[in-house]
Amino acid sequence: MANVSVSILGCDFTKIGEQVSEAEAAGADIIHIDVMDGVYVENLSFGPQMVRDLKKICRLPMSVHFELVRPETYFKMFYDAGADYITFQMDACWNPLHMLNVIKKAGLKAGLGIGPAYSVEPLRYALPHIDGLILMSVEPGYGGQAFEDTVYDKVRRARKIMDETGIHVPISIDGGVNEERGRRLVSAGADILIAGSYVFGADSITGAVQALKGLKRAPDGIWEKPLTKSVFVDYNDMVKNDDGDSKMF
Ligand code: DX5
Ligand code: ZN
Repeated sequence: MANVSVSILGCDFTKIGEQVSEAEAAGADIIHIDVMDGVYVENLSFGPQMVRDLKKICRLPMSVHFELVRPETYFKMFYDAGADYITFQMDACWNPLHMLNVIKKAGLKAGLGIGPAYSVEPLRYALPHIDGLILMSVEPGYGGQAFEDTVYDKVRRARKIMDETGIHVPISIDGGVNEERGRRLVSAGADILIAGSYVFGADSITGAVQALKGLKRAPDGIWEKPLTKSVFVDYNDMVKNDDGDSKMF
């Protein structure tokens, strides 16, 4: 079964709480929260209060997707708000390996996002430092954009790099995901489907989540390697870091 991460950018903002609760009850695995700064992308979206408040009503891991420049500036406020997973766009950060290790040292899962116009080849050098990869199938900035078909090939390339290095982290696809594309993405090797408008724009949020969750990898042998790093946050690990406490700063 595919793992499903629901992107709240696709919600009716007057009903975010109830729509997230419905997605959780339907079996969603992760809540995806896009954070935009009006600089890296022209749009603005959510701040740390959204993470803090959603954690009151939802037990799923909160995956924060930074679509902003200088992620180091914003890290601490989302750490304090209770983010479980922080992903930033590689091209928005001057020293991505450093940033990844700041996130991990704080006890959170660290993800790297790669935009649709960028190659996955740098993944080879970042893999030892990451807990997850987001391959974007739209340019960051908005929900409901046209899907870039090139992502299928990028999933396979990312999977090949993981096979070569022996480090398998979950691959998420973000942007324009629906049931039909989800089926192809899962067969190509995607582990997590991130979906906003397909889920929250559906007549039935429950039906849409369950349709994505029910997708299975085609039996074509493309992907059979077990992950070496888990999709999910291990809460037992979250309180430990090199200094023996959970505080970063
Ligand atoms: C784009 C965001 C996506 C977006 C996906 O900037 O990173 O997470 O919410 O929305 P859909 O599924 O509508 O393309
Ligand atoms: Zn996103």
